Amino acid sequence: MVWLIGDKGMLGSEIARQLTENKIQWIGSDREVDITNSSELRKFASSHGPAANTTGLTVRKRKVPEKITWVINCAAYTAVDKSESEPDLAESLNAEGPLNIARVAREIGAKLIHISTDYVFNGNGKVPYTEEDPKDPIGVYGKTKAEGERQIEKEMTLYYIIRTAWLYGFDGKNFVYTMTKAMNTRDSVKVVNDQKGTPTCAVDLAEAIVKIIDSSDKAPFLFGKKSALPYGIYHFTNQGETTWFEFCNKIYEYGKKYGTITKDCVIEPCLTEDYPTDAKRPQYSVLSKDKIKMGLKIKIPSWEESLEKFIKSPRFEPK
Ligand SMILES: NC(=O)c1ccc[n+]([C@@H]2O[C@H](COP(=O)([O-])OP(=O)(O)OC[C@H]3O[C@@H](n4cnc5c(N)ncnc54)[C@H](OP(=O)(O)O)[C@@H]3O)[C@@H](O)[C@H]2O)c1
Repeated sequence: MVWLIGDKGMLGSEIARQLTENKIQWIGSDREVDITNSSELRKFASSHGPAANTTGLTVRKRKVPEKITWVINCAAYTAVDKSESEPDLAESLNAEGPLNIARVAREIGAKLIHISTDYVFNGNGKVPYTEEDPKDPIGVYGKTKAEGERQIEKEMTLYYIIRTAWLYGFDGKNFVYTMTKAMNTRDSVKVVNDQKGTPTCAVDLAEAIVKIIDSSDKAPFLFGKKSALPYGIYHFTNQGETTWFEFCNKIYEYGKKYGTITKDCVIEPCLTEDYPTDAKRPQYSVLSKDKIKMGLKIKIPSWEESLEKFIKSPRFEPK
């Protein structure tokens, strides 16, 4: 059974949907089980696993709960700019939270899938970052997420850390929804054109996560060892690279095509320095996906293909 932490968030709710669709048993928690509080996490784990049945009595009619074998952590402090003025809160959610979760996962013998970010890199690169490239975050959010990765690596071995970037999904505030609303109400918008990265549809990322679980659970034993995806850090975004300006142009193009944008709007490119934010953003944050593509034997759709599917979906509902 899977324990999905952060199941009400943008990525978490998509994973929840896909776990159900794939008939994978799961239980979820969000704010009500605070990841910064280890005893709340332990209490939840023990009330939802076989450990709950510690009476020593034979329970005839009651179904003994299935063991939690996977923990997925999607809970995090994700407000990149706000984290600059709330570093302690960001640290407790993004670094102490993952440490607490890793501890509990290890105690109950479960494997952990934890979500991290391209912001662990400084963005000075010119070619896609690999999993082995050194971490060098430039802001509070990236620093705390990098620390969260370190805590997990120190605490346990049965983990997958998946770094993603520029995420959007059906259930949550994101760039695609924000720009769709803006272009439906304004005559012009200015969008940064000197930061490069790759948009990621939560549907595709959730599919990869479900595949990790499914392929590991079904992996055959070879020479006494399960031939599942090796544990460690992986990168997952859609394929290709773009800027926020080009991304916005595609949102406009598909929005016009599928009727989610109903008026004309001029999209103007601008520089990062013209649009000051509290947190510094990496200039280049394209991630190499070779490791996960080879390990899971998957093809990842281009960011344009996934964006088009997202915008034309009946689930598209700007928040
Ligand atoms: N969004 C992106 O562009 C992006 C890019 C790269 C990586 N990531 C990573 O991807 C993961 C998922 O991101 P997301 O955008 O889906 O996040 P999200 O929508 O903000 O979801 C996070 C969930 O965690 C909950 N939460 C907050 N504090 C908690 C606590 N103390 N205990 C338990 N749950 C708590 C949140 O509740 P509230 O809503 O009530 O706060 C929310 O439901 C995160 O690890 C993030 O760092 C995101």
